[in-house]
Amino acid sequence: MLKHIYSTSLIIFLFSIASLAQIPDHFVNLKVLPSDISKDELVSVMRSFSSGLGVRCNFCHVEGEGQGLGSMNFVSDEKDNKKKARIMMEMVHDLNTKYLPELSEFSKDIIKVKCVTCHRGATEPQSLEDVLFEVVKSKGLPEAISTYHQLYDRYYGGFAYDFRDHSLVSLSEMLSDSSMFDAALAFDSLNINMYPESGTAYFGLAEAYEKKGDKENAIKYYQKSIELNPRSADFINRRIEALKNE
Ligand code: HEC
Ligand code: HEC
Repeated sequence: MLKHIYSTSLIIFLFSIASLAQIPDHFVNLKVLPSDISKDELVSVMRSFSSGLGVRCNFCHVEGEGQGLGSMNFVSDEKDNKKKARIMMEMVHDLNTKYLPELSEFSKDIIKVKCVTCHRGATEPQSLEDVLFEVVKSKGLPEAISTYHQLYDRYYGGFAYDFRDHSLVSLSEMLSDSSMFDAALAFDSLNINMYPESGTAYFGLAEAYEKKGDKENAIKYYQKSIELNPRSADFINRRIEALKNE
């Protein structure tokens, strides 16, 4: 069962055929995978882990002296990530064998869950706004802004994080709701820098000003938002009217 779940990664991810020779032919510390798994099968599972999480083998396996796969200690369970990965393997196995088959009542072709289904090329499967909200709270605004840029540089164009305008609007809402208005406004400005033509980005800025109690700026940027996105005029005009009548 397991081999069907994990063996789909066709990407030649990190190493050439030549370096495959550095991986042993028999495996001595398998607790989840079948002990008689072939080398091809195991390597394909391991590649799917690496590409699913956007990491190299050394994320889970200890590196020894020297370079290349030959110096790695694949048997050791020293790294926590390897232990976590085993729990994940059991979880994925249960999802595919216990829960999803219940859907077969409705449909024959049930999609299988794989590591990439949640991880999407990142180690922590979280939305951009959730990651940044945590960083603002734990390390402050400047660190959160630089985290945004780091994540952008590393993941933009992939599918780990959604860098479209609405993500930072959600973040801004979360921050305003926790009365962190400076941080909310800073991320709204960043969003507008990234997307100067986005009515959504201006809407986020206006909303943050509204929650902060700055009516004048709220109205100004709601109007700007309508200018850029006339389709939402009815909805936003109602907000402007409500603000004016307060
Ligand atoms: C996300 C964590 C993770 C990544 C990344 C990963 N592995 Fe593994 N690897 C594991 C786990 C967990 C096991 C043990 C599986 C089990 O207990 O059935 C394992 C087992 C192995 C084994 C068998 C060791 C033995 O003798 O018991 C080899 C060989 C191996 N991995 C090679 C690789 C290679 C090569 C890569 C990079 C392409 C890689 N792994 C990437 C988690 C990972
Ligand atoms: C249903 C969603 C889901 C699937 C599928 C999934 N994971 Fe995870 N994984 C998570 C979540 C959520 C976390 C974060 C747990 C936490 O809070 O630390 C996580 C964390 C991890 C971590 C620890 C990362 C770190 O930096 O601490 C590893 C390693 C990992 N997963 C490996 C795997 C592997 C390998 C697979 C495929 C066998 C897999 N995951 C499939 C949801 C998933």
